[in-house]
Amino acid sequence: MRLLANVDITTLEMKNISIAFPGVQALTEVDFHTTTGKSHALIGANGAGKSTLMKVLAGAYSHYTGEVWINGVKAHIRSPRDAKLLGIQVVYQEVDTALIPNLSVGENIMLEYTVNGMKGKHLIDWKLLHQSAQAILDRLNVKVSTKKLAQDLTLAEKQMVLIARSVSMECRFLVLDEPTAPLSQSETDQLFQLIRLLKSDGVGIIFISHRIPELYEICDDITIMRDGKLVTRKSIATLEQGQLVEYMLGSKLEGQFPQRLSNSGDICFEAKGMHDVGKVNDVSISIHKGEIVGLAGLVGAGKTELCRALFGASPTATGETFLNGVKLRIKSPYDAVRNGIALVPEERRREGVFVDESVVVNLTASNLSKFAGIGTWLNKKKEREAAATIIHDLGVKTPNGDALVRNLSGGNQQKIAIGKWLLVDADVYIFDEPTKGVDVGAKRDIYNLVAELASRGKCILYASSEMNEMMGITDRMYVMYDGAIKKELITAHTNEEEIMLYSTGGLLT
Ligand SMILES: Nc1ncnc2c1ncn2[C@@H]1O[C@H](COP(=O)(O)OP(=O)(O)OP(=O)(O)O)[C@@H](O)[C@H]1O
Ligand SMILES: [Mg+2]
Repeated sequence: MRLLANVDITTLEMKNISIAFPGVQALTEVDFHTTTGKSHALIGANGAGKSTLMKVLAGAYSHYTGEVWINGVKAHIRSPRDAKLLGIQVVYQEVDTALIPNLSVGENIMLEYTVNGMKGKHLIDWKLLHQSAQAILDRLNVKVSTKKLAQDLTLAEKQMVLIARSVSMECRFLVLDEPTAPLSQSETDQLFQLIRLLKSDGVGIIFISHRIPELYEICDDITIMRDGKLVTRKSIATLEQGQLVEYMLGSKLEGQFPQRLSNSGDICFEAKGMHDVGKVNDVSISIHKGEIVGLAGLVGAGKTELCRALFGASPTATGETFLNGVKLRIKSPYDAVRNGIALVPEERRREGVFVDESVVVNLTASNLSKFAGIGTWLNKKKEREAAATIIHDLGVKTPNGDALVRNLSGGNQQKIAIGKWLLVDADVYIFDEPTKGVDVGAKRDIYNLVAELASRGKCILYASSEMNEMMGITDRMYVMYDGAIKKELITAHTNEEEIMLYSTGGLLT
């Protein structure tokens, strides 16, 4: 079975695309072109306009100006249906919400058929449905049962199923918007194999990612955007990484990690015998004042579960926590915040922000008490000032403080989720993968802020599966493997290889 009806090379050209939203010129006269059988990287800082350009292509907006040409013929794309009929499929940044959770994998892949059947347009032949879905999964070499419910899949499996659904319809161009952000290395490798297979079958891939090295692994050509405009388009092999970042940010990126003197005081935060069924196994940690302690380990090692347990966010977690020697009673996130513990969660778009509220409301919500007290207008003024500081320090791209968080780009939503905790005067800050999905410039801003918190004497727990972050930002680290701490390492006396070794459970200690 071939995936494609049309195996000849097809060209895709977007010409002079402009689009505005209230207060934002999101795209200005952008040109973009690629062909089937190629993998094309689309990159730019958070808010540069990547997702918006791809949404125009997918027919999500009808109010843009400019033209789309396919195979030299002008195309009319003003609705998702128009785009699909032209063979354009998009897997969006928010993978988690794109499948119907209580339908099976098979039903999700054959969604049109299933939905039409449910509407009574035809009888559903279940055997045929599962056979057809299975054939697609087999063809793509994806090992997931078609009977499994979508809600029981891992993020990586969800992504594979979404891709399978996309290519089950005629698909000439497949857009993947930050597909690798939540994936582990081996899941990423699997996805790349799938991309190579689709490419060799003549699908044109458009690939968005903030992980620059992987672009070199999987992409042929690259388009770089900045502030809603095209910067350059090249064959990726001709472009050095440093040059690429400079195009993206408009300036050189010097010193990714801050220079800091580790200057830690007494033990401030301690956790003893933390347990959570099947996820966290007898973990004890301590953090000194002003210290940045890493929580290293691969995706799935239990870092997120430990962070949640410490924050009172898991009802099944047990164990003892102490702040300055005093035992804490934490049964809920509310208790944690009251006791001076802040968590920036990994699933920020779901747990970390109120998308239907404004930037200012989000930034100040966790900290209302700080602004209470004086006259109302003064509070508002203080709130705005505090929010403005965070917007500036983290380089949040937003027209103003009243913009809804929903309308910010993915990476800028992440910055809001981090920023709101920086306004809280906590003693302990837990960061769970804080740089996932943010651009290289914003990463540096986040590292600087973490370092600044530490220099103010705060305790930091920094969970990340990126080894270079462990080496670049922490003083000391615990390496987790399979829910337990495998090893404690002093950053100055270790290296990425050693972290990797313990992360993979490589040595018995
Ligand atoms: N529906 C909308 N309403 C208002 N503004 C919007 C809307 N969609 C996008 N924008 C704005 O357009 C700009 C580009 O956003 P876009 O999501 O395309 O960025 P991006 O390059 O995908 O960034 P990221 O890497 O963070 O995902 C941003 O300033 C964003 O706030
Ligand atoms: Mg985006």
